[in-house]
Amino acid sequence: MKNILELKEVSFSTQNIQIIQGINLGFEEGKTTALAGPSGCGKSTLLKLSAGLIIPTGGEALYRGKNIGGMNRAQNLEFRKESAFVFQDSALWANQTLLQSLELPLRIHFPRMTKTERQKRIEEVMNTVGYKRSLAIRPSSLSMGEQKLIAFGRSMLCSPSLLFLDEWTESLDDHAAQRLITLVKQQKLRNNTIVFVSHNLHIIRELADHVITLAEGRTYTRLTSEQIKSDRELVELLEKDKIE
Ligand SMILES: Nc1ncnc2c1ncn2[C@@H]1O[C@H](COP(=O)(O)OP(=O)(O)OP(=O)(O)O)[C@@H](O)[C@H]1O
Ligand SMILES: [Mg+2]
Repeated sequence: MKNILELKEVSFSTQNIQIIQGINLGFEEGKTTALAGPSGCGKSTLLKLSAGLIIPTGGEALYRGKNIGGMNRAQNLEFRKESAFVFQDSALWANQTLLQSLELPLRIHFPRMTKTERQKRIEEVMNTVGYKRSLAIRPSSLSMGEQKLIAFGRSMLCSPSLLFLDEWTESLDDHAAQRLITLVKQQKLRNNTIVFVSHNLHIIRELADHVITLAEGRTYTRLTSEQIKSDRELVELLEKDKIE
C-alpha cells in the first residue's frame, strides 16, 4: 500500500522547546491510524504537522510525495480541499455565527455554489451529526460537546478523503459519541485515510488499522490491529493515562 503522507525526520520546536524530534512515519492511503500516548507527549502537534497546519522546523512532511511546506497556493488549496481537521478544542470562529463558520469552507472550495446550495449542504451535514439547535448563534453559546458536533460537521462539509481528528468525541455523551464514531466508520468504508488522536481503547480498537504510541515527542511504537487486540503495552499505556 502506498503512503499518502510521510513524515521524514520531522522535528518541531518553538520558544526553545523541542516538542517533536526526528520522527519518521508513513500513513497508508485508505487506512486508519490512531495516535496515542500520555498527555503533553506531542500528539496534537504531530497531527498538525501531518496535516500541514504547522510546518516542521526540521525535516519535511510530504503529501503524495510533495513537501507540504513547499506547495504553491494552488497545490495548497487542493490539499486543503481534500483534507479536513477537527481540532481538540474545536476551534470555531468566536466572532462569527455557526452558519458563517460553516459557510466558509464551502465558499472557499466551491466558489460557484449558491447560497441555497450551501444551506442545503450544511443542513444535510448537521442532520447527520445530530445538531438540532440554531445556527444563528455564536460558539460561546454552545456546550463543549455541541462545539465538537459543529467542528466535526464542518470537517465533513467538503467530503474530504483525508481526515485528521483530535479527540473528536471528548465531551460528548455516549449516544452522540457513538454517532460520530459511526460516521468515521462510514468514512473508513469509503477508503478514506484517517489519522486520529484518542486515549480511548474502545475507539482505537473499533476504528484503527494501526496504532502509533508517542512518548515525549520522540520514541514511538507502531502496532497493527491484531497487536492492538492483544498488546499489553498499549493497554498499560492507556491505563497509565487514567483516561480510559
Ligand atoms: N505553541 C506552543 N508553544 C509552546 N509549547 C507548546 C506549543 N504547542 C505545544 N506545546 C507544548 O508541547 C507539548 C506537546 O503538546 P501537544 O498539545 O502536542 O500534546 P498532546 O499529546 O496533544 O497533549 P494532550 O493529550 O493533553 O492533548 C506540551 O508540553 C505543550 O505544552
Ligand atoms: Mg492534544
